[in-house]
Amino acid sequence: MDKIVVRGGKRLNGEVTLSGSKNSALPIMAAALLSDETSVIHDVPNLRDIQTMIKLMRSLGAKVSYDDTTLTIRPGKTLNPKAPYKLVSTMRASVCVLGPLLARTGYAEVSMPGGCVIGSRPIDLHLKGFEALGAQIKIEHGYVKARALKHLAGNEIYLGGSFGSSVLATGNVMMAATLARGKTIIESAACEPEVVDLAHFLRKMGAQISGEGSPRIEIEGVKKLHGAQYTVISDRIECGTYMFAAAMTGGNVLIRKAVPSHQNAVIDKLLQSGVSITKGKNVLRIKGRARLKPTDVTTLAYPGFPTDMQAQMMALMAVTPGISVITEKIYPDRFMHVSELNRMGAKIYSESARAIIHGVKRLSGAPVMASDLRASAALILAGLVAEGDTEVHRVYHLDRGYDNIEKKLSGLGAAIRREKE
Ligand code: EPZ
Repeated sequence: MDKIVVRGGKRLNGEVTLSGSKNSALPIMAAALLSDETSVIHDVPNLRDIQTMIKLMRSLGAKVSYDDTTLTIRPGKTLNPKAPYKLVSTMRASVCVLGPLLARTGYAEVSMPGGCVIGSRPIDLHLKGFEALGAQIKIEHGYVKARALKHLAGNEIYLGGSFGSSVLATGNVMMAATLARGKTIIESAACEPEVVDLAHFLRKMGAQISGEGSPRIEIEGVKKLHGAQYTVISDRIECGTYMFAAAMTGGNVLIRKAVPSHQNAVIDKLLQSGVSITKGKNVLRIKGRARLKPTDVTTLAYPGFPTDMQAQMMALMAVTPGISVITEKIYPDRFMHVSELNRMGAKIYSESARAIIHGVKRLSGAPVMASDLRASAALILAGLVAEGDTEVHRVYHLDRGYDNIEKKLSGLGAAIRREKE
């Protein structure tokens, strides 16, 4: 296993280029299974989760090659419709092969994804959508068994929950509906850019989809989809993470391949904190400042403040004088990073879905443990401004979603290195 060692105190300056979006690439890879023709996907980031999805797709019978961020997927005529526990349990996003397998073969058997440190992560909305399309759903021995008795038929489906909308449920049902007979309307669909990207890929495959990016998506089923070439969007969460790194260190950083319109909620909060941000066509420049102002954040579905940026926001607030409040509406338990930040001298109190942060002048470097992917990023950010060395252990969590983070940060002047444990 590796650890990452960060020596705090360096201002970040220079330029960094974003990788492709993990949360866009994963469902798009699954969507390629909807056709027996070859698809080529560009800008697929080199991450553990992508490697896991490649293994899963190969286990389903697809031929997959990956070369310098270009993925070539040859699903072939016949697919094995069973996604094994050993792969699905390591990555919840594996669940998004359910829709394509069900639509393509009429049957899918996918292990129930386990929970993870950020929450229970049920898939009831995915299954509700498949049943609405006419599939018979059984849960046996930890596996979801979905069968289209005759064929999938379009329907009106409400996918909202108490928390708002579900990203992967929207994607899964949208994928299944592309080959259903007739029209499907998804109400209370997720509006995330990654859902929009998936819809764009499906349309390039020949799917009839409209309304993506809004809470109402319409899909007119077609008989067959063909292979397609596509380039995924850049990773907005990676972008936000580097924006916070520049803000916290008082640096001046240009982020290339950024999509400013994907960052409105994060930009709004950073501007409230006193950071200066300049937007370009596909760049963002962030200038931090010595004394930031406290602000409050509530995580919401897009276009609200993303839950995947909550931990990073907490790291910023930990060193912002004053009192800030974070309310986590998507994953109420997503506070594993609180105890680790407090080990570095932060003053954070969390109870149920809320955290109160009393900003401190300086954090102190310490050995800390990564937990979920974004909490790990928050610990790296904290290490950038802490006194002395911070050792982040179990960085395999980080490698799930950040492409070469230590190289990109050292390219901006950070004193950071990866070492064997
Ligand atoms: C996606 O997960 C992202 N993952 C997550 O990013 C992200 O945190 C999440 O959306 C929210 O934005 C990928 O896209 C691969 P949800 P997803 O279904 O789709 C509840 C990261 O760090 N829910 O939108 O699985 C659920 O419990 C990861 O990159 C149900 O109740 O999340 C949660 O409270 C972490 N029933 C809320 O919806 C369901 O059937 C949002 O979950 C589905 C979800």
